[in-house]
Amino acid sequence: MPTLTINNATIHYAEQGRNKAGTLLLLHGFPLHSGMWEAQLEGLSTSWRVIAPDFRGFGRSGETGPFTIEQLADDTHTLIGQLKLDKIVLAGLSMGGYVALAYAKKYAQSLRGLILLDTKAEADSAEGKANRDRMIAIANEKGSKPIADAMLGKLIPEETARNRPQLARTLRDMMESTRPQTIAHALAAMRDRPDQTGMLGNIAVPTLVGVGDQDAITPPDVARAMHEKIPGSHLRIFTGSGHMSPMEQPSQVNPAIAEFLAKV
Ligand code: MLT
Repeated sequence: MPTLTINNATIHYAEQGRNKAGTLLLLHGFPLHSGMWEAQLEGLSTSWRVIAPDFRGFGRSGETGPFTIEQLADDTHTLIGQLKLDKIVLAGLSMGGYVALAYAKKYAQSLRGLILLDTKAEADSAEGKANRDRMIAIANEKGSKPIADAMLGKLIPEETARNRPQLARTLRDMMESTRPQTIAHALAAMRDRPDQTGMLGNIAVPTLVGVGDQDAITPPDVARAMHEKIPGSHLRIFTGSGHMSPMEQPSQVNPAIAEFLAKV
């Protein structure tokens, strides 16, 4: 699996498919890594080159100290430059969506399309920020496991965790293997991210908004509101899915992405 040095960080990325119709770049959620995109790397790479980096500190990328969401967007831009990619389609899930929006604001000229999955444009509320601080203290004092314990029930519905133990195990393994300091840095980055609702009306590239019908973190109403603010965007609601729609329902998510890619 390839690795590059980007803005003083060692960044690992997964890649499948070459010399295709274009490049699809996939940005993962918190506190996960590129492994969450396995079904998309596999299923969409027959017609597109698919690249999924691990953000700094996550997965197999090196730990670097504190960062901001904007810095993760800058890392993404540098990665695209180093790989000499033409205009790309950028997809992000949740925290990856926060980065994708920061990217779209700063680097719109390098985008061919945008896919926002299970994410939102609003900044954290005061209560949300206080909760980030509590989680940071837990990560620093007790490590990654209690964070995984707290997150699992939010990422996927209880029934899914019961009926699909392998999916729950995969998510738990990803979360428990994330370094506590990376978890703390990412929580601070999300707590401090700016509100992006004001830029939604300026997005001028084709955009797909997708969400699980049972998403407890960024529910369908939030996705619908975002879709209504992005000119000409498409909305897809995936049934039988919580917050992790690409992992929970790849048989709905992959065709929705493929149909979108065919049009951009
Ligand atoms: C994620 O899935 O990336 C996070 O839950 C997003 C968040 O906590 O705001």
